[in-house]
Amino acid sequence: MLWVVLPVPGSAGLSHMVGAALNVGAMTTTIALVTGANKGIGLETAQQFGARGFTVLAGARDEERGREAERELRLAGVDARFVPLDVTDEASVRQAADWIGREYGRLDILVNNAGIARGNPPSQTDLDAVREVYEVNVFGVIRVTNAMLPLLRRAPAARIVNVSSEVGSISSMTDPASPLAQLPAGLAYPSSKSALNMITAMYARELRDTPIKVNAANPGYTKTDLNRNSGFRSVTEGAEATVYLATLPADGPSGILWGHLWSADGPADAYGRLPW
Ligand SMILES: NC(=O)c1ccc[n+]([C@@H]2O[C@H](COP(=O)([O-])OP(=O)(O)OC[C@H]3O[C@@H](n4cnc5c(N)ncnc54)[C@H](OP(=O)(O)O)[C@@H]3O)[C@@H](O)[C@H]2O)c1
Repeated sequence: MLWVVLPVPGSAGLSHMVGAALNVGAMTTTIALVTGANKGIGLETAQQFGARGFTVLAGARDEERGREAERELRLAGVDARFVPLDVTDEASVRQAADWIGREYGRLDILVNNAGIARGNPPSQTDLDAVREVYEVNVFGVIRVTNAMLPLLRRAPAARIVNVSSEVGSISSMTDPASPLAQLPAGLAYPSSKSALNMITAMYARELRDTPIKVNAANPGYTKTDLNRNSGFRSVTEGAEATVYLATLPADGPSGILWGHLWSADGPADAYGRLPW
């Protein structure tokens, strides 16, 4: 198996390569699974993967929304296939992994993108709301990652991207100079992303002697249903960090939080490593 690095310009000039796996005599495509791919940043990530020639397995928990996303992606020329996948449902995740195993035998990229937000100040936070958020943003990621790992290990150099958030960065959220420190105090969502950051670091540690890289992406404050479309970044921009981390070369980092950098006086389009 040979790995060929092709320069591919990203829409924000970030994505610098695509790993195209060449079998002797036959070209095989990169197989990428995106959870929560039926809208928002997940759907756009699928579009950007498709533009790089990847086969996109578009995970969605709702059949109708998943089929609609598949149609939209195919109309845009993407080799997309809807995969029924509710990250909170063990049987659904197991069936998805079995199906990918039968159809493709491996998985090159896993993007744990599915996420939900519920917002209340800590003192008014209901434990059921915390559990609901953690079921998707935390337990869902562990469930999907562990189900897909045997397939990721069969790929020559798999990439796992956990779509996290700067609001999960305890350093940024408590830095008085950061705009993030001005946000109202929430509990369920920011703490779920802090947990996801540590989960990312620990998978990266366990897999450090393998070619698999595990990183967390920060899309930045992106206009989607998650925040009632109040974000100041487009989904095109929001997906860039994920695509960048999913296409890292062999000497790229593993176990970092990377993406949009929001500062009070810095440039609007700065990218880089965020503190945990
Ligand atoms: N937007 C931002 O400013 C921002 C910033 C930082 C990080 N993020 C993260 O980016 C990711 C994508 O969010 P988004 O902004 O694109 O939000 P979105 O438009 O609300 O999309 C969320 C996606 O997750 C799916 N989902 C929810 N629960 C699921 C479950 N149990 N199983 C499978 N899929 C499920 C949703 O499916 P349904 O349509 O069926 O509900 C939808 O496809 C999330 O992890 C979010 O935390 C977003």
